[in-house]
Amino acid sequence: MTETEATTAERYRRFAAIEARGYSPLYDEWCTGIADDDDLLARLDTLAPERRQPVLFLGAARFVGVPLGDYSAFRSFVLARWASIRDVVETRTTQTNEAGRCAVLLPLLAAISADEGRPLALIEVGASAGLCLYPDRYAYAYTPGPTVRPRTGSPVPPLECAVSGDVPLPSRLPEVTWRAGIDLNPLDARNEDDVRWLEALVWPEHAFRAERLRTALDVVRADPPLLVRGDLNEHIEPLVERAPRDAVVVVFHSAVLPYLGRTGRDRFARTMLRLAADRTRPLHWLSHEGHRTLTGVPGAMQPAPGEQDGLFVLQHNGRSVARTGPHGQSIAWLQEVPDRSG
Ligand SMILES: C[S@@+](CC[C@H](N)C(=O)[O-])C[C@H]1O[C@@H](n2cnc3c(N)ncnc32)[C@H](O)[C@@H]1O
Repeated sequence: MTETEATTAERYRRFAAIEARGYSPLYDEWCTGIADDDDLLARLDTLAPERRQPVLFLGAARFVGVPLGDYSAFRSFVLARWASIRDVVETRTTQTNEAGRCAVLLPLLAAISADEGRPLALIEVGASAGLCLYPDRYAYAYTPGPTVRPRTGSPVPPLECAVSGDVPLPSRLPEVTWRAGIDLNPLDARNEDDVRWLEALVWPEHAFRAERLRTALDVVRADPPLLVRGDLNEHIEPLVERAPRDAVVVVFHSAVLPYLGRTGRDRFARTMLRLAADRTRPLHWLSHEGHRTLTGVPGAMQPAPGEQDGLFVLQHNGRSVARTGPHGQSIAWLQEVPDRSG
């Protein structure tokens, strides 16, 4: 049974066990409760399958003001305010924007810029409000490893990332001369409702992520990126054409491809492999997605036997190079590229 065919109870039980356990005790408790709650499951089942997604529903409840209390308080609030929560679920989408993901992208970004001998032109597909387009404006604390900071400092607390394996950690930040993104619904760092939605998507116990979001939004507001509204498959090639020729283009994405159908994902992978192979202009493709997401490229993401299911995989031009924490909290470099294309 695939993720979309799983029952709503199974989706919430799986989310509690795989994604929330040990990371958000409250979401673990709420989602475990929902999975056994026929009243709430019946309400969720009135939504379209893609709208039953735990992160979307939990974010909507938070947006409407659910108290951060035990399951019975959560349940009472949801039943009392179902119409408002439903309205948010049906009009918003999951747009969690996590600057922390820059910590796992940075080693490759720095290496690409150094190898090509050019500054970076960044294009993020599925950019949300664009927080991941500023890897040169954040500080990083790798453990074990160096702390790397912009020369001018950063208002954002250092992005902490646990390291294992031979990660090619950078000693300095690459120069970024151009940044642009594509999103079906770009969020505006200056719009109060959009900011409230981004805040509602930060998991309850993650005060450090809320602080990071607040300060990273200041970085974006001070120098907003070019954000194109629309589908990534439609806009990626015209946007690459707009990038300056004296820079190396890096197209990247994080936690985006699950929102595309299989056809859309495969089309995007084909486009990126073609553009990366075209040596008339230097272009690299970085993918940071859950390991079940991408197929049809060499070394596609399959978990190693016994591997924790919730990890992401970082790929460079379709080749898997590292397994990572989904919010950028860890990076484990792969010793050998697994040849388990799916
Ligand atoms: C979970 S958010 C991730 C945001 C950002 N990449 C990050 O890692 O912080 C996924 C984003 O992808 C966007 N998205 C989903 N499908 C898309 C598509 N077909 N074309 C463009 N953007 C899309 C959503 O609107 C959303 O903003």
